[in-house]
Order: sequence, then C-alpha cells, then structure tokens
Amino acid sequence: MIPTIELNDGNRLPAIGLGTYPMNDDEARSAVLSAIDVGYRLIDTAARYGNETGVGRAVADTDVDRGDLFIATKLPGSDHGYESTLASFEESRRRLGLDYVDLYLIHWPLPRIDKYVDSFKAMIKLRDDGLVRSIGVSNFTDEQLRHLIRETGARPSVNQIELHPAFNQAGMRAVDAGMDIVTQAWSPLGRGKPVLSHPLVRGIADAHSVSPAQVVLRWEVQLGVVPIPKSGDPDRQRSNLAVFDFTLDDEQMRVMSGLETGRIGGDPDEHEEF
Ligand SMILES: NC(=O)c1ccc[n+]([C@@H]2O[C@H](COP(=O)([O-])OP(=O)(O)OC[C@H]3O[C@@H](n4cnc5c(N)ncnc54)[C@H](OP(=O)(O)O)[C@@H]3O)[C@@H](O)[C@H]2O)c1
Repeated sequence: MIPTIELNDGNRLPAIGLGTYPMNDDEARSAVLSAIDVGYRLIDTAARYGNETGVGRAVADTDVDRGDLFIATKLPGSDHGYESTLASFEESRRRLGLDYVDLYLIHWPLPRIDKYVDSFKAMIKLRDDGLVRSIGVSNFTDEQLRHLIRETGARPSVNQIELHPAFNQAGMRAVDAGMDIVTQAWSPLGRGKPVLSHPLVRGIADAHSVSPAQVVLRWEVQLGVVPIPKSGDPDRQRSNLAVFDFTLDDEQMRVMSGLETGRIGGDPDEHEEF
C-alpha cells in the first residue's frame, strides 16, 4: 500500500504517482495498466499530452475499483478563461471516460494571457458540482499563488512544479508549505541523466543497496514532495515505487539537496504553451 498525504480540502493524495508524458494513447493504456498492477494509484495526465483516452481505457480495463484510483489531468493554455475552462474540462472528462476527475490542475499560469484567475473560478464551480474532487495548479510562483488566492478566496490543493536534485526548489517548497499546498514534483528524476549517473547519488544508492532513481525519489518523499516519475517499463515502475522501506540520514539528505545546477524546463513567468 502506498502512503497518502492529506490535502487542504481533506482528500488524500498518494505519496507517489506515475507520469505519462510523452506517451501516446496505446503506450499510456499499457503503462497505466502495468503501473496499477504493481501498485500505483495516482496517475498524472494532461489534455496537452494527447493520451487521456489511453489513460481512461486503462481505468476502464483494470480490476481495481475506480474509488481507489486518483486520476489527475490539466487544463491546457489554449483554454484559459471561465467558459473555455468548463468546456475544456468536459472534453477531458469525456476522453477519460470518467464521472469525475480526482485532481484538475491549471497546467501553466501564462501571466501574459492573465486568465488563470477566471480558469480557477471555473474549477471551483467544477468542484462544487462534484465533477472534480480537488483543484490545483502547476508551475505557479509565489506571486501567482498569492494573486490567485486573493482574487478567488480559494486555495489550490496542489502545486505541481519542476523539482529534482538539480533544481530542488527550496524556495517554492517553503512557499507551498506556508500556504498548506502540497508540492508535486515533475521530472522528479531530472529526466534520467545526469542526475541518475551522479557519483554522489550512486554512492548513496550503493550504501542502501538501491538504485540511484530510488535514492532520488526517496529524497523527494522525505522532503514531503509527491514525485510522479514517468516510466513505461514495468520493472522500473515497480522499483520506482519501492521507496518506503529505507531512509536517507540527515547527511545524505544534505548531499542530495546540494546538487543544484538549474532548471531543465520553462520559467513560469515566461513559459507559454497552448
Ligand atoms: N506540469 C508540467 O508542466 C509537467 C512538465 C513535465 C512533466 N510533467 C509530468 O511529470 C512526469 C514526469 O516527468 P518527466 O517524464 O519529464 O521526467 P522523469 O520522470 O524525471 O524522467 C523520465 C525518464 O526517466 C526514465 N526512467 C524512469 N524510471 C527510471 C529508472 N528507475 N531508472 C532509469 N531511468 C528511468 C524514463 O524512461 P522509461 O520510460 O524508459 O523508463 C524516462 O526517460 C511526466 O511524465 C508528466 O506526467 C509535468
């Protein structure tokens, strides 16, 4: 059983999940089925990934109860705005083939477009209507979170941000924690190399007889962050999940937090995708 973390709305989020970008529908269906089979319950997709249909097929085909799964998807930049968010969500829900979605996130803030407040108001309505259980954001900065909360009077449950040993986000982790928002980590493995081949990471892995990926994911779990590593390989899916039976000591946590080199993805103040 995967541990869970309580969100500020009372719902419980699995402490680790499966990323699905850049899988197509067929890859997503088979990856999600094998992931559920080895114990994953949190699945992360997005309208923009083009694989919600495949994720939905896996949910329909698995023997695991819908109520035990936690399906998260995201609003694309092209659909920011109140009415367009409602319509976009309905399209996502149809592709997923679900009665409700567990977590709906604004994928990027797009400050130049300046419509994320309207989108979040629509997401509050979706939650009130019972179509979404929890609402949140992705790639939001301190200032954007404050603006959102001030304008809507509601708090996101989750902020999904780029986070891995080369970009450990100490500042945003503190901001999220101060607002009682759970931080999810995207690209939690730094997309593979060079994080996983770093000699210090390998040294800690050897000391615990685990893999470098397990050390990285364990470091994130101990930071209180929810990683969503992507793998289509059932063996790597299984091993990425096996991070709850060893503990990094303070010195190892300090070493892992000292590998900063910078982000690999976009800057939320500037990045635009639609
Ligand atoms: N909100 C956002 O803006 C945003 C942005 C980017 C990503 N995301 C989400 O975050 C998820 C994860 O991020 P990501 O896919 O960019 O990066 P990631 O999870 O850090 O890395 C994925 C890569 O690592 C490999 N891998 C997985 N497990 C491994 C292991 N145990 N040992 C060695 N290699 C391993 C995978 O290959 P195999 O598949 O071959 O195992 C894949 O090439 C995405 O899938 C997506 O759901 C969100």
